[in-house]
Amino acid sequence: MEKSFHITTFGCQMNEHDSETLAGMLLERGYVQAKERKDANIVIFNTCSVRENADKRFFGTLGQLKKKKMEQGENFTVCVCGCMMQQQHIIDTLKAKYPWVDVIFGTHNLHQLPELLDNLYREKEKQLAILPDREEIVEGLPSRRLFQHKAFVNIMYGCNNFCTYCIVPYTRGREKSRKPEDILREIRSLVEDGVREVMLLGQNVNSYRGQSDDGSVTDFTDLLYQLQEVEGLERIRFMTSHPKDLSDKLIQAFVDCPKLGKYIHLPVQAGSSRVLKEMNRRYTREEYLKLVEKLRTAVPDIAISTDIIVGFPGETEEEFEETLTLCEAVRYDSAFTFLYSVRKGTPAEQYEDQIPEDVKHARFNRLVEVINRISAEKNAEYVGRTETVLVEGPGKTGGKTFSGRTASFKLVNFRGTPDMTGKLVKVRITESNTFSLVGEAAGPEA
Ligand code: SAH
Ligand code: SF4
Ligand code: F3S
Repeated sequence: MEKSFHITTFGCQMNEHDSETLAGMLLERGYVQAKERKDANIVIFNTCSVRENADKRFFGTLGQLKKKKMEQGENFTVCVCGCMMQQQHIIDTLKAKYPWVDVIFGTHNLHQLPELLDNLYREKEKQLAILPDREEIVEGLPSRRLFQHKAFVNIMYGCNNFCTYCIVPYTRGREKSRKPEDILREIRSLVEDGVREVMLLGQNVNSYRGQSDDGSVTDFTDLLYQLQEVEGLERIRFMTSHPKDLSDKLIQAFVDCPKLGKYIHLPVQAGSSRVLKEMNRRYTREEYLKLVEKLRTAVPDIAISTDIIVGFPGETEEEFEETLTLCEAVRYDSAFTFLYSVRKGTPAEQYEDQIPEDVKHARFNRLVEVINRISAEKNAEYVGRTETVLVEGPGKTGGKTFSGRTASFKLVNFRGTPDMTGKLVKVRITESNTFSLVGEAAGPEA
């Protein structure tokens, strides 16, 4: 029987890229990828521990598969992986309530999926592989990209920051940087395969420190300058950088490296220095605002996005309003907003003064209103300009609409032709919305 698989991914780009790797490994071994979950005989869930309600959604969707598993037994395989598997209470719940799940593996055991499936079929026994962390980085894994012309590339794994609300340091382990030569080799071969844009991934990319075999050390900015030289690569982006590590050297790289997109995601989390201290963010409101000023002085048209948490334990009304005034001062191009929610095992779980849900929601709505108003105003400034857009392909609305991104990462929809996909095209912006721009193709990039 043909073995077909389907992967459902929750969470961030890190997980999306892990799913690309899972797909790459299975395709290499002759499995085929099903378009929909219902058509697959191997179903994989790649889970997240952060995003709002991700765990509820995961258990809900997983539960729906029980009937099929009971009916089809060995002919239907259910695998679960990702950040949630690094939390003991999740494993306990799976064992107690979902004992029919066939394969469970953690974030440090990703590369073992083919082997775990082989074992399952051979031994007819459930498989569990979870390491708390891993010293060495597994290189050379294949990947089935979501997009033809852009690729995610991990430059580092894990996080050492221990923000008090965050589960990531526990689910992804300690910081580890890949060797620069491994990253360059991967990116050169991606470019040969048609990739024009890379998104460098890490929980905190600006603490990247890659050590080469000859002992030399490459920091994040050095890496950017090296990538700038890769022929055929048009754009470089990265995610995420922590404000505490945003150096003058990195700001200068935005000036020196034309391939570096004029865009930075710089999570602020809160506008009050007291709350930031409780969060263990290691910068103050003033220091953050100073950074933004430096960025804008060096690169006046840089787009800035952020992550914000509302309702952190103990956040007062005045402190929340400091988040609003910070947003007005920075004028973010866009922001991901989160309602604070307790994560088991994090320091903030123990904090008193958890904020009532209705208060959190009311603050959240006020914040979103400010954020959206500013996003719309920022986008309106683009009307009349001509932007260089890297075309991603047909837009979501179909027809002759194509979509792509400006250097500042703005989504642009315009009438285009299929041959534009993967190319840099000049687009004159004619309209703006809160989350996107509309334009007219004005010819290829000179
Ligand atoms: N490493 C990245 C992303 C971490 S997770 C960074 O530090 O920026 C993505 C976002 O989820 C965080 O920036 C934060 O805004 C949000 N988040 C993390 N834990 C949360 C929690 N317990 N409650 C609400 N939002 C949270
Ligand atoms: Fe990504 Fe964080 Fe979710 Fe893991 S827990 S998938 S790192 S958002
Ligand atoms: Fe790390 Fe980011 Fe959390 S830097 S501790 S993952 S918010």
